[in-house]
Amino acid sequence: MIINVNGLSDTEKLGEQISGKLKGTEIIAFFGGLGMGKTTLTRSIVKNLGSDDDVSSPTFAIVNEYTAKNLMRIYHFDMYRISSWEDLESTGFFDYIDNGIILIEWSENIENALPENTIKISIKPGKSENSRVFEIEGLDI
Ligand SMILES: Nc1ncnc2c1ncn2[C@@H]1O[C@H](COP(=O)(O)OP(=O)(O)OP(=O)(O)O)[C@@H](O)[C@H]1O
Ligand SMILES: [Mg+2]
Repeated sequence: MIINVNGLSDTEKLGEQISGKLKGTEIIAFFGGLGMGKTTLTRSIVKNLGSDDDVSSPTFAIVNEYTAKNLMRIYHFDMYRISSWEDLESTGFFDYIDNGIILIEWSENIENALPENTIKISIKPGKSENSRVFEIEGLDI
């Protein structure tokens, strides 16, 4: 499914729609370079899952953990610095699977390790500065 957005608030609405479809153990992998809106979309998904936690790219920590109001766990990964299977294992990634919702920035770096049922969202630039083209695979919204 392809979704064209024209500004930040459209991206936030998309996050709201996505969050409404999640049950609690999905893996969502974001693809798309610097400033495409991976953290912006993640922030909206997390907020709309009922969490008041601050959301920022865990570039150094690799994973941030948030809690939604119903005690649903959310794990937010930034794989920018991950370049091998050993790196990935040491983040605990495989232990988080099935224990909460997993949201992954820079999935390009771990694409081979993603389970088959992963929801993939790739973000590309649109025609103007604030436009983006989202391609969503594995989730109907
Ligand atoms: N339609 C849009 N959707 C999302 N972000 C937008 C949009 N239009 C403009 N922006 C701007 O683009 C930037 C997106 O930043 P964000 O941190 O979400 O990107 P990112 O993909 O997580 O980047 P990084 O690779 O550095 O983690 C923000 O400054 C935001 O204001
Ligand atoms: Mg980011």
